[in-house]
Order: sequence, then C-alpha cells, then structure tokens
Amino acid sequence: MPRRSISIASPNTRIATAVAALSIFVFAGLAEAESHAGEHDGDSIRIKYRQSVMSIIGTNMGAIGDIMKNRLALPGAVANHAGQMAESAALIAPAFRKDISEGQTDAKPGIWQDWAKFESSIAKFETAARNLQTAAEGNDSAAVGQAMRALGKSCGNCHKPFRKPKEESFKNK
Ligand code: HEC
Repeated sequence: MPRRSISIASPNTRIATAVAALSIFVFAGLAEAESHAGEHDGDSIRIKYRQSVMSIIGTNMGAIGDIMKNRLALPGAVANHAGQMAESAALIAPAFRKDISEGQTDAKPGIWQDWAKFESSIAKFETAARNLQTAAEGNDSAAVGQAMRALGKSCGNCHKPFRKPKEESFKNK
C-alpha cells in the first residue's frame, strides 16, 4: 500500500490562515465603506435609502395595478397593499429631511424650500392610500377604481413639483 503523504500544515492551521485572510478582506471592505461615507457625508447612502422608500411605494402600487388590470382573485390583497402604502407615508419625511439635491437623485431643491408643501403632499398621499384601503375592504368596485385613480393623482401631486421629470432624470445620464 502506498504511504499517504503527510501535509505540513495541519487542517487547523489551514483553517486559521483562511479565517485570518477573510478577516483582512472584511475589514478592508468596512474601511472602504466608511471612507466612502465620509467623503460624501453619507449623502449617497441617504439618497439610496429614500429611493428605496419610494420603490416600496411604487412596488405596492404596481402590485395593485396587476391585480386590478388582470382581475386576479386575491381576496384582501388590494386592501393589504393600500394599507402598506399608507404605513409607508410615515417613512417619507424622515427619509427626505436632509437637504440633498446633488448626486444620483431626482429630488428637486424645492422640497427644502417649501417643506410644508412637501409634508402636505405626504398627508394627501396617506389619506388617498387609506381611502383605497377602505374602499377595497368594501365590495364596490366603482369606489375602488375611483380611489385608485385618486391615489395615482396623489403621486403626481408630489412628483410634479418635487421630482425631476424623466427627461432630466439622473438615470439618463
Ligand atoms: C411627498 C412626495 C412624494 C409622494 C407623495 C410620492 N413620491 Fe415618489 N418620489 C418622490 C421624490 C422626491 C422622488 C425622487 C427621489 C430621489 O431620486 O432622490 C420620488 C421617486 C419615486 C420613484 C423612483 C425611485 C427610485 O428608485 O429612483 C418611484 C418608483 C416613486 N417615486 C413612486 C411613487 C408612487 C407610485 C407614489 C404614489 C403612490 C409616490 N411615489 C408618491 C416624492 C414623492
């Protein structure tokens, strides 16, 4: 029988070396993330967060659209999505509180010049989402359609004054 060759490094030593190498990699990554945040005062991270909040709202709106357009039989789903949108309203003001209109963002400086109007747009959106939730809990499809249109208008009510139009979006740059 051939003799097995004996590895010089024991398995424990090899694991320890791998863990050490991984730690260096992880720490280097953290250090880079921090210096990145420092450079821009975390602005790019805040922009990404507020866009995530908007994406949540957009995703719920899209889901409702899918259900209504295709008449999907999903009892309670429209009311649930509408309720989630109304809850999301509370995330908007804190997400946008810091004045950041430079960088990878479509937020217009007007938000911070007329914060009261921005907040009233949030309130209108929240009311519209609650109205859709209430309508969807009933069984009046005409009322649901009307509430959905009003909710759609409440997006435009804020996007028009406060968000750059598609043609000017950072996404086209
Ligand atoms: C109170 C103001 C306000 C309301 C109400 C509002 N939005 Fe927005 N939304 C914004 C602003 C400002 C931006 C741009 C954010 C940025 O680029 O930093 C935005 C961006 C978005 C985006 C793009 C996010 C991304 O990843 O870049 C989507 C999608 C969106 N909104 C969907 C909606 C929908 C759907 C509604 C209504 C159901 C809505 N929003 C209501 C202010 C609002």
